[in-house]
Amino acid sequence: MLRLGALELASNLFLSPLAGYTNLPFRLTIRELGGLGLCTTELVNARSLIEKRDKALKLIESNARDRPLAVQLFGAVPEEMRDAAQCLESLGADAIDINMGCPVRKVCRVGGGSAMMSELSKTAALAQGIVRVVRVPVTAKMRLGWDDANLTAPDLARALEDVGVSAVFIHGRTREQGFGGCVNLAGIRAVVDAVRRIPVIGNGEVTTPQAAKRMLDETGCAGVSIGRGAFYNPWIFRQTEAFLASGELPSEPPFEERVRVMCRHLDLMIEVFGETHGCRMFRKVAPWHAKRLGPAVEFKRRVASLSSRAQFDDVLAEYRAWRAQFLDDRGELLPRFAPTPSNPSFMTGEPAAPSAIPTPRGPVETW
Ligand SMILES: Cc1cc2nc3c(=O)[nH]c(=O)nc-3n(C[C@H](O)[C@H](O)[C@H](O)COP(=O)(O)O)c2cc1C
Repeated sequence: MLRLGALELASNLFLSPLAGYTNLPFRLTIRELGGLGLCTTELVNARSLIEKRDKALKLIESNARDRPLAVQLFGAVPEEMRDAAQCLESLGADAIDINMGCPVRKVCRVGGGSAMMSELSKTAALAQGIVRVVRVPVTAKMRLGWDDANLTAPDLARALEDVGVSAVFIHGRTREQGFGGCVNLAGIRAVVDAVRRIPVIGNGEVTTPQAAKRMLDETGCAGVSIGRGAFYNPWIFRQTEAFLASGELPSEPPFEERVRVMCRHLDLMIEVFGETHGCRMFRKVAPWHAKRLGPAVEFKRRVASLSSRAQFDDVLAEYRAWRAQFLDDRGELLPRFAPTPSNPSFMTGEPAAPSAIPTPRGPVETW
């Protein structure tokens, strides 16, 4: 059991915010699979929220099945961040997360995102301004620092704890690193050691239950937050929870279960975004689901122009027929088409190479 302030969570596993990906349909899809303690929305601009812009309101769209939910705010103007947090509390957010890790130039230029890591007292004052006006827990998500010469996360985490922040999420890389290089577990450990009471949640490159356990063991962090690994394997939270409890790896979901979850995700996309837009958005999501289906080149090609649910049914039916050539008499993938180290399987116990989890293309490709 892990607590963020007064908020009790059923698990110490978290979904990391991924702009453009961890929207309501995805959150509902993975919540249904179990194992998750808390989801966080992607970053939302504080000023847009106060001005009630449609785009900001769509980003915080949620429902009763999407609980508990933290909303992540970004901005550098203390009054705006404070007012936006109050607004979110009145709308029912269970926690407010402050983005201090975004390396995107547009966000840093105005003093938000990872620029906040360079100005400790200013950042602590901003967080305090929020803590004072809301009852829900306030958390912060940061990187280790701006670069190797400026690993400010331990000092910043301590300063944030002192002003009443309830937890810190730490991506074990610097801003300069972007997504390159290894996640620095010792760097996360230094943050754990720097705070006195609040939980520190480790993040970065966790794509298997074993990697989650390693992060917990080597850093002493209280929980683990998973971003891209949840797209690669939506069952990762449930599998990790089971692995941490018993040391046993649960069996892989069979093909039909993978297809069911993919269809559920699409249906939720359509429910939330409408058929045309939902299908268009699903074009970039379906290939992630397809990564573990075995040969799927034909499916990926066809789904790239998806525009309706009926079309998806046709694509799926044709894919099933095409995929049959790779199956044995029992309907299992022939061994030579089963997952390999370059397409690692959860069952092999091998951590996926970072290249196996590409940073999705888009305006935030340098997160
Ligand atoms: C496409 C993309 C979008 C992201 N959007 C956000 C965001 O909105 N807020 C944030 O704090 N971090 C964001 N991140 C960073 C992730 O939350 C996470 O820290 C990072 O991906 C490392 O974790 P992972 O290896 O489990 O994905 C984003 C990362 C990616 C790849």
